[in-house]
Amino acid sequence: MIHVKDLVKQANGTRILRGVSFAVAPQTVLGVIGASGSGKTTLLRCLNGLERIDGGVIECESVHLDANLSEHEYSRRVKELRRKVGTVFQHLYLFPHLTVLGNVIEAPTHVLRVPRQKAETEAYELLESVGLKQAARRYPESLSGGEQQRVAIARALAMRPALLMFDEPTSALDPKRSAGLRSLLRGFVARGHTMVIVSHSIGFLEGLADQLLYMEGGEVVEYGETETVLNSPQDPRTKDFLQQAK
Ligand SMILES: Nc1ncnc2c1ncn2[C@@H]1O[C@H](COP(=O)(O)OP(=O)(O)OP(=O)(O)O)[C@@H](O)[C@H]1O
Ligand SMILES: [Mg+2]
Repeated sequence: MIHVKDLVKQANGTRILRGVSFAVAPQTVLGVIGASGSGKTTLLRCLNGLERIDGGVIECESVHLDANLSEHEYSRRVKELRRKVGTVFQHLYLFPHLTVLGNVIEAPTHVLRVPRQKAETEAYELLESVGLKQAARRYPESLSGGEQQRVAIARALAMRPALLMFDEPTSALDPKRSAGLRSLLRGFVARGHTMVIVSHSIGFLEGLADQLLYMEGGEVVEYGETETVLNSPQDPRTKDFLQQAK
């Protein structure tokens, strides 16, 4: 569950996020759309604690972050947050020195202390669901971009975090793999996970996201049920964006 109110993020004196507010109910999916540079990745980085916020409040899986917290308290809470939130970044950051399997079991064995055998069994199941079981012993550099993206997704899912965040998860996937990923993610939502998905692909979000948030220049322009935002957008800026995205 996420509650964000009046979130402000600044960098080098400019406001990248200008008072963003929204909520994501448990076991639902929020899709975030918007032009390049509108602040989508920055929003995810604030939600998972990678960026310290400059204004407003975030409540993420019962961890409260507030711009007024001391440095020490902020980092303490971010540590707690990390155990509950998994992120698949736009740039994937796979560990190059670990095999595909090694990448997937790294956090479960080191952070959650899952026994290696159990972690491997789960990792093989996840790799199978993203179609990469055969690649378990290979190293990331030998994989195609789309394959690496699927490893990063399996790695995030392996932590079974309450909240999962994805930044452009389909950018390197072909239509068949995108559809496969969509059903995989739907399965995780049905099993109790909550998600925030940033995507340029409206088609991918349609039928996956319960709600859509359209951002422009660090502000929320439109936010509501996916069907309503797509079929009867209220703001002319959203209409323009959707028109061009078609
Ligand atoms: N550390 C920083 N210092 C200065 N400007 C920054 C910093 N981080 C982000 N920005 C700027 O903030 C804006 C939002 O960036 P962000 O990466 O969140 O956009 P985005 O919506 O994810 O774009 P894309 O669709 O291209 O991934 C951009 O103009 C970016 O240049
Ligand atoms: Mg981005």
